[in-house]
Amino acid sequence: MDIYAVVGNPVAHSKSPKIHNLFASQTAQNMEYTAIQSPLEAFTDTVTRFFANGGCGLNVTVPFKEQAWSMAQVRTPRAELAGAVNTLYQQDGVLHGDNTDGAGLVRDLVVNNGQELKGKRILILGAGGAVRGVLMPILEKQPALITLANRTLSKAQALAEIFSPYGNLESSGFERLQTSYDLVINGTSASLAGDLPPISPKVISSETVTYDMMYGNEATVFNAWAAQQGAALCIDGLGMLVEQAAEAFAIWRGVRPVTDTVLAGLRAGN
Ligand code: ATR
Repeated sequence: MDIYAVVGNPVAHSKSPKIHNLFASQTAQNMEYTAIQSPLEAFTDTVTRFFANGGCGLNVTVPFKEQAWSMAQVRTPRAELAGAVNTLYQQDGVLHGDNTDGAGLVRDLVVNNGQELKGKRILILGAGGAVRGVLMPILEKQPALITLANRTLSKAQALAEIFSPYGNLESSGFERLQTSYDLVINGTSASLAGDLPPISPKVISSETVTYDMMYGNEATVFNAWAAQQGAALCIDGLGMLVEQAAEAFAIWRGVRPVTDTVLAGLRAGN
């Protein structure tokens, strides 16, 4: 049996084992997927031991994605630019790293929710690791404009500089946002504390779609606020979680699982 796992700290509440084991039974793959809590100071040892013991692939979650990037000997271009790796596997003794978060977000928007990104005006809130991890796959869809807005302007400016060769990006503080966007993505960690990024309701029109990279049993604070402002559609990040997993599974196993039943099951609390 081939062994896979998600490594994080904490990791006990991760939905990844459930998602991947559902994918495995659906596609009749002889594999098992578990969760490994790595001590904060021992991520490298944890990964090395996992592969030395015959493990086939790892997903990496908070707070280890940057360390996984450093460990990977070969990285895909999207992982290279993301500065973070969430998918590891070994080939001929060489550790490969990829980042499937952005592809997962884009697939959830485009395939699961029918949202085209080409030619659209997109506002992204936040400029931390989560946003950096998803920018390249969004840019590949050729939006007309991405405004990167962050509480700390210098971090938005730094990201805009890194990604400006790949599309039309501008950086902004929150206070300067005064026009509406086709799509507003919340990539801040404000939702974790139940906070709302301090932005003007003018960014939302009746045509605006919002996407919160977080998810919960109820609407996130950000999506609840956007719905109150009259947004057309408010999507949470559960679909992104399932789609980034499907992308990793396809890399490891060479088969792409069907995601809609898995996502519906998670939504129903199964
Ligand atoms: P992650 O890996 O989740 O991206 P991070 O790299 O620490 O974590 O980035 C967190 C992001 O959320 C940052 O953009 C942060 O803004 P600052 O760069 O100004 O710190 C943003 N953030 C966190 N709490 C916030 C809040 N209450 N309001 C607005 N932005 C917030």
